Formats: sequence, structure tokens, C-alpha cells
Amino acid sequence: MLTELTSTESKQFGRVGVLYGGISAEREVSMNSGKAVSLALKQSGVDVVDIDINEKAIEQIKEANIDRAFIILHGAHGEDGRIQALLEFMGIPYTGSRVQACSLAMDKLRTKWLWQGIGLPTPDFRVLSEKTDWERTLLELGGAVMVKPAHEGSSIGMAMVRNAKDFAAAFHHATQYDETVFAEALVTGAEYTVAIVGEEVLPPIKLETDNIFYDYDAKYVSEDTRYLCPCGLATEDVDRLSLLAKKAFTSVGCSGWGRVDFMADEEGNFYLLEVNSVPGMTSHSLVPMAAKENGVNFQTLCLKILTETL
Ligand SMILES: Nc1ncnc2c1ncn2[C@@H]1O[C@H](COP(=O)(O)OP(=O)(O)O)[C@@H](O)[C@H]1O
Ligand SMILES: [Mg+2]
Repeated sequence: MLTELTSTESKQFGRVGVLYGGISAEREVSMNSGKAVSLALKQSGVDVVDIDINEKAIEQIKEANIDRAFIILHGAHGEDGRIQALLEFMGIPYTGSRVQACSLAMDKLRTKWLWQGIGLPTPDFRVLSEKTDWERTLLELGGAVMVKPAHEGSSIGMAMVRNAKDFAAAFHHATQYDETVFAEALVTGAEYTVAIVGEEVLPPIKLETDNIFYDYDAKYVSEDTRYLCPCGLATEDVDRLSLLAKKAFTSVGCSGWGRVDFMADEEGNFYLLEVNSVPGMTSHSLVPMAAKENGVNFQTLCLKILTETL
């Protein structure tokens, strides 16, 4: 795929709606991703219309009169299958995973149940409730856990805890974000993320932060987060990680593009955390970083993702 398309090549996409912004907690991130994608597509000569999605999404999409959609909405409504369902109903092709895969990927807990069911490694976990025996659950999960709302992204509502009192508090905090909250055994090795575009698994990125974990600050604010790509793993480990990423991605039914998050333990075993069906796409985001390592610039990456809709 060429960065500089001839006018006929860029015309093949027709009028492309970049759907960004949205009404989820991740709106700000999506605004940045959307602007970057929109600019890149325009630079390639694609006929782009920016649509900052709000509660009137149906009218907005109808009025924009688009031939296809580049979905760059994160979190609820945009990444969870709802906007995808809307577009399908309207007969508009769109980037990324279909409805069912998006809604499954949005639910970290059900995704883990699926992975567990087919024997893919994911950290041990327990669903939490008011009745949870904090002391015992903590012990069962190895003494340190991540508490997570099942449907949030960007590390929102999450906490790392090591004692029963903090555990209960973290649960109550997380319930502000989600009805379903679970605890996952802490995995203490390195962190990796693997991007997939089309059929291609991109080089893994290693993430390093001085924060307690890769939290909202480490993701979007801190200048000190380190991204290593190439990630420093031996070729056979990269292959193992890449294969696992592909299996995790396809088992959830994902397609088009996305990103799979991992933690490694001290022995170098990889554990699946989650799949992101619409990952960040700012010039500083992880998928563009991995693409760059493969010699694919941001503009070409956006075209590749869009080409998957043809
Ligand atoms: N089981 C775990 N052990 C250690 N760290 C974890 C674990 N789960 C999550 N984390 C940390 O929290 C971050 C966010 O978790 P993740 O499940 O990927 O949710 P999000 O959707 O918010 O990205 C991860 O990038 C990692 O740094
Ligand atoms: Mg993540």
C-alpha cells in the first residue's frame, strides 16, 4: 500500500467518515486519535468528513452521507459493538472488528472466561461482590491483585492491592464505574502489547513505567513511560508472544485491527490481559509505534486499516 495514492486510488474509499470523540470516559483520548487519523487520511487524498459522535449518532451519520466509516471511538458506545451495529444496520462498511467481537472484547471478564475455556493463559481471577471474603480471596490469588471494572479502559477505576482493607476499598471504588468488578492475580514481570493489522502481527512493544502500574498517568500524561520496540525478547519468545496474540485476537472474533495486552511473569510466561478492538491512534500511540518498527508510517497505517473495509 502506497502513502501517496493516485486520485483514483484514494477515490476507491469514497467519502470516509472518521467517527471520533463519543460519549465514553475515553472521549479525550478518542478526540486526539480522531484528529490524527483524519489528518493522515486527508494527506493521502481521501475524502474525509469528521464526525464527533454524540447522542444523536444516527442523525449525524445519516447527514454526513458517508460510504464507509473509520471508527476511532474508544470505550462504551464506540468500541463495544453499538456503533458497529448501527453502521451495519445502515449498510455502511466500517474499520475493525464486527459487533459481537467488539462487545465481547469490551468485557474483560467474559473474555477471560473464553480464554480460560480454550486453554489460553490469563491470570487467575475472581468476580467480586459485597459478600466477598477479602482475606481469603486475596490469599487464593497469591496475596496481591489488580481490581478491575469489567468494562472500562485506560486503567480507569483500577487499583493494585496487597491487603484486605485496601481490597474492599478498591472494590467499592471500582463499583462506581461498573456493576461487574473482578480481581486478577498480580503478574510481576514485564509488560508487553502486540498490535495486529489485517493478517499481520506487528512487533511487540515492551512498556516500562515508574508508576505502580501502567495507569492513566503512565498512558497519557507522564513523559517517563518507556516504550521499547524492538522489545528485547529473543526471536523464539517474540514468536511465542505473537502466536498467542493472534490466537487471543481471533478467538474473541476480532478482525481488521486491534491490540492485545500481556503481562509476563518472572519466568517469562506470558499472560493475556485484554484485547482492545479500537486502540489509540495518536502519533504517540502503540499501534503506530509497532507499525513504524515494520517500516509503516502513520499515514500508510491508516490506509491499511481502511483498506480492510474494501
Ligand atoms: N494481572 C495484572 N498484573 C499486573 N499488572 C496488571 C494486571 N492487570 C493489569 N495490570 C496493569 O494495569 C494496566 C491496565 O490493565 P488492562 O487490563 O490492560 O486494562 P485497560 O483496559 O485499562 O488497559 C496494564 O497495562 C498493566 O500495567
Ligand atoms: Mg490495556
